[in-house]
Amino acid sequence: MDIFEEINIKGFVDEPIDPTLDLFEEIEKLKKEKNAVILAHYYQEPDIQDIADYIGDSLGLSQEAAKTDADIIVFAGVHFMAETAKILSPTKKVLLPDLKAGCSLSDSCPPHLFSKFKEKYPDHLVITYVNCSAELKALSDIVCTSSNAVQIVESLPKDQKIIFGPDRNLGTYVAKKTGRDLVLWNGACMVHEIFSMQRIAKLRAQHPEAKFIAHPECEDAILKTADYIGSTTGLLKYTMNSEAKEFIVATESGIIHQMEKANPGKVFIPAPPNNTCACNDCPHMKRNTLEKLYLCMKNELPEVSVPMDVIEKARLPIERMLEISARLGL
Ligand code: 13P
Ligand code: SF4
Repeated sequence: MDIFEEINIKGFVDEPIDPTLDLFEEIEKLKKEKNAVILAHYYQEPDIQDIADYIGDSLGLSQEAAKTDADIIVFAGVHFMAETAKILSPTKKVLLPDLKAGCSLSDSCPPHLFSKFKEKYPDHLVITYVNCSAELKALSDIVCTSSNAVQIVESLPKDQKIIFGPDRNLGTYVAKKTGRDLVLWNGACMVHEIFSMQRIAKLRAQHPEAKFIAHPECEDAILKTADYIGSTTGLLKYTMNSEAKEFIVATESGIIHQMEKANPGKVFIPAPPNNTCACNDCPHMKRNTLEKLYLCMKNELPEVSVPMDVIEKARLPIERMLEISARLGL
C-alpha cells in the first residue's frame, strides 16, 4: 500500500515511532526546520494544546491562519478548520494530523441539498457558521463563528432577509439575541446536542455556588438555564473574570485544560450528557494525537487541498467575516 492509499484508508501515515523519542522535542525541531506553525483548537487533547504556537476558538484560528508568515500551517483541529486556513492562505502547505477528523455539524449540511434549499429563498442573504465544508462556504455571502454570529447579523439592515446554516441551535440563539426572523437549516453538532437537562439540574443542586456556562451550539432548553453563553474563548474569559470558584461547563471537555491552567484553584465540572459517559469528547477532534501530529510534520502529510474554483468563491464570505470582526474589534 503506498502512502496516499494509506492516508485514504486510515486518514494518516501509520508509521512506527521510536518509543525513546521525546515527541515534544522532535516537534519543536520540526517546527524550526520547516518554518511551521501549529494552530490548535481548544478541543484538542492537552499535549497538543501544550505544544501549539497558538490555541484558540474558530475565529481566533482563522485570524491567525490569515496572518501567519510560516511556510507550513499544521492545523490541530478538524477538516473544515484546515480548509478555512487553506482558503485564506492558498500558497501555504496546510497539514492536518488526521484527514478523517471531520465534523458532524458540517456533515449535516451537504452542499447539493443546501443549494436547493437556498433556491427557495432567492431574496435572502446566506450566513453560514464556519463549521461547514469549503463548498458550503462557496455558496454563502458571509461566514460567521460562534463569537461573532450575533454581531454579523446585526451588521446587516433590519429588513434584510437571512438564511442561517448549518447549526439550528446557534441560529435559534442568534435569532433570539437579535430579534431577527432567520430561516434556519436543520443541522446540529453531536457533542452539544447530547447534554442532559435532568442530569445538569441534579449537578447544579449538588453545586449550588457553581456557574453554569454553555456554548451556543447547545439546545435552546439548555441555553435558557445558563449563567453565561459564549464561544470557547468567551467561556474561557468568563471563568477568568468571574469571582465564582466552580463552573459546570457545557461544551467539549478539551477546553477545561485551558480553564484549569488559567484558573488555579477553581473547579471545572463537565456538564453530563444523556448517557453514562462522564464527559463530552468530540470523536473528530480527538482523532488527532501527539503521535499523528509528529508524523504529519515529519512526512508533510496528510495535506489539505481545496480546488482553486472553490477557494475563489469561499474566500470572499470568510474575508467579509474577518473585515466585520476587525471593524468591531472582535
Ligand atoms: P468555537 O471555537 O467558535 O467556540 O466553536 C466550537 C466548535 O464546535 C468548533 O468545532
Ligand atoms: Fe463538529 Fe461538534 Fe466536533 Fe465541533 S464539537 S468539530 S461542531 S462535531
